[in-house]
Amino acid sequence: MPLDEGLLHFPAYFDRSEQEALLSDIRSVVSVAPLFVPVMPRTGKQMSVRMTNCGNLGWLTDKERGYRYQSTHPETGRAWPPIPAPLLDLWRDVSSYGQDPEACLINYYDDKASMGLHQDRDEINLGAPVVSVSLGNTCLFRIGGINRNDRTRSIKLESGDVFVLAGASRLRFHGVDRIYPATSTLLKNGGRINLTLRRVNP
Ligand code: SIN
Ligand code: FE2
Repeated sequence: MPLDEGLLHFPAYFDRSEQEALLSDIRSVVSVAPLFVPVMPRTGKQMSVRMTNCGNLGWLTDKERGYRYQSTHPETGRAWPPIPAPLLDLWRDVSSYGQDPEACLINYYDDKASMGLHQDRDEINLGAPVVSVSLGNTCLFRIGGINRNDRTRSIKLESGDVFVLAGASRLRFHGVDRIYPATSTLLKNGGRINLTLRRVNP
């Protein structure tokens, strides 16, 4: 369902059995590329999410070197595992982009975690869409314009939903204000997982 130009929400794109299959793929990724604690550049403040990646490149941040993509896990030094097939199928289905994603960021939110309003702009290729999947508890997602002070609106993203920022909406500010506990039974210990597929290079 297009909310605006390039701003797409596909409620319940993945049904329950597909969500379970995806979750099992993500657990396999996390078993070789464990979740780590991202640290904001300069301030050294820890983000409230835990993260890891799959794909040729992964996004990360630490105090010294800041926001960036790299091909290896910051703690194990190993290459990120490949992006699971259902996510490549998703990208091919909704992105209308000729090349596959290079990076899949995996964010885990516990029920108290959130993410401040930000733009995704660490990619060299800002022409390719950002495609994201929600699993687990519902969140309150905030979406603004391409300037930080533009008016924002909020929507709920539920388990299995897909959200796309493309075209004129690619650089819109967005963030996660809160997680609603006990709104999904997918994750045994609650919380929410967000998977973000991105193309980094032209
Ligand atoms: C992000 O912007 O990195 C995450 C968005 C989300 O959790 O839905
Ligand atoms: Fe983002």
